[in-house]
Amino acid sequence: MSGLLAKRILEIPPSPTLSVNAKAAELKAQGIDVLSFAVGEPDFDTPVHIRDAAKKALDDGQTRYTPVPGTPELRKAIAEKFKNDNGLEYSIDQITVNCGGKHSFYNLCQAILDPGDEVIVPAPYWVSYPPMVMLAEGKPIIVPTTQENQFKPTRADLEAAITSKTKALVLNSPSNPTGSVFSSAELDMVADLARQHDFLIISDDIYEMIMYDGLTFDTIAGRPGMIDRTLVLNGVSKTYAMTGWRIGYMAGPEEIIKGVNKIQSQSTSNPNSIAQAATIAGLRGPQDFIGRMLVQFKKRRDYVLERLNKIDGVSCHTPGGAFYVFPKVDGVYGGKAGDLEITGSVPLAEYLLSGANIAIVPGAAFGDDACIRISYATALETIEEGLNRLEKALKDLS
Ligand SMILES: Cc1ncc(COP(=O)(O)O)c(C=O)c1O
Repeated sequence: MSGLLAKRILEIPPSPTLSVNAKAAELKAQGIDVLSFAVGEPDFDTPVHIRDAAKKALDDGQTRYTPVPGTPELRKAIAEKFKNDNGLEYSIDQITVNCGGKHSFYNLCQAILDPGDEVIVPAPYWVSYPPMVMLAEGKPIIVPTTQENQFKPTRADLEAAITSKTKALVLNSPSNPTGSVFSSAELDMVADLARQHDFLIISDDIYEMIMYDGLTFDTIAGRPGMIDRTLVLNGVSKTYAMTGWRIGYMAGPEEIIKGVNKIQSQSTSNPNSIAQAATIAGLRGPQDFIGRMLVQFKKRRDYVLERLNKIDGVSCHTPGGAFYVFPKVDGVYGGKAGDLEITGSVPLAEYLLSGANIAIVPGAAFGDDACIRISYATALETIEEGLNRLEKALKDLS
């Protein structure tokens, strides 16, 4: 039988970051010494007090369905977090808990997009934004940016992309893959456009706590009039090293949150009850884990930047947050490794995996073929060896 799959599935790629990682794991299983810099997760264990809270929840019998948007206790803890960290006031009916930040974004697209609605996505973007918009039959409008502008769109860039069909704009600061952080003035500019042209802001704040160099997190939702047109997405995956627990959350106008809950009630139901209990411990418990993690991340970021910027044909801007670098590598394009010509980031990634046993994600996956993404959420010794291999592999190109 032909035509088994729906058109909308055929139109989207699988997550390239997850597939690079799967390929690296496959090679590792064959005994090949592959070093992976592809994955977007902290290499730390979930803090003990969070794991203990999960064990207690299990023993206390918190093993049943919870309300679809999460337990009232968890939503209360999230409301406290928004108030204390971001100065944002939400009732618990304006908050929903989902099965990871990715799921929050997916549900949101399903809730707000009609066919043909446009969502502005500045590039480089997190790989999953455009496909999730497309799965809701929306149209991602990609706005390219430049390394010179630290991969952030200017007012003119955004104005050129706005049409009468613009429903929302995606803001991700600090950004995956670039680590770029929007300044307060840039947030003012985006807020101004949203008010003027009447569209929503989807503010994906998942890397909120992972910032360096004295930078502090600022939220667009706090600008005048913006609380009613901003969906704030966050989660525990990155902040508390809880990627496997699958908890993300979102706050915004109650009407939209209700729509999201309707979708969730007809698909996944509530997120995992034990993980919800653990998340309360994460949000309300000691936060010193984050500071310790940041010390390690910053050491690694500085090392990676120093090494990369010394390699011919490579240049890297300094990311203010997250745990990725996004170097421009098109200086080596045109080089050859045997029969393989490096015509872009995809063949470069293939060459690095097969020729140097290092896994990185091609920039093309994020909408910028001139770059590659390297995650430094891995031990410094591994990073050092990986950069030795990268440097040699690039030198070996003829
Ligand atoms: C920008 C961004 N948003 C959201 C997520 C979702 O993370 P999770 O689904 O683990 O909460 C990720 C994970 O890589 C991300 O990089």
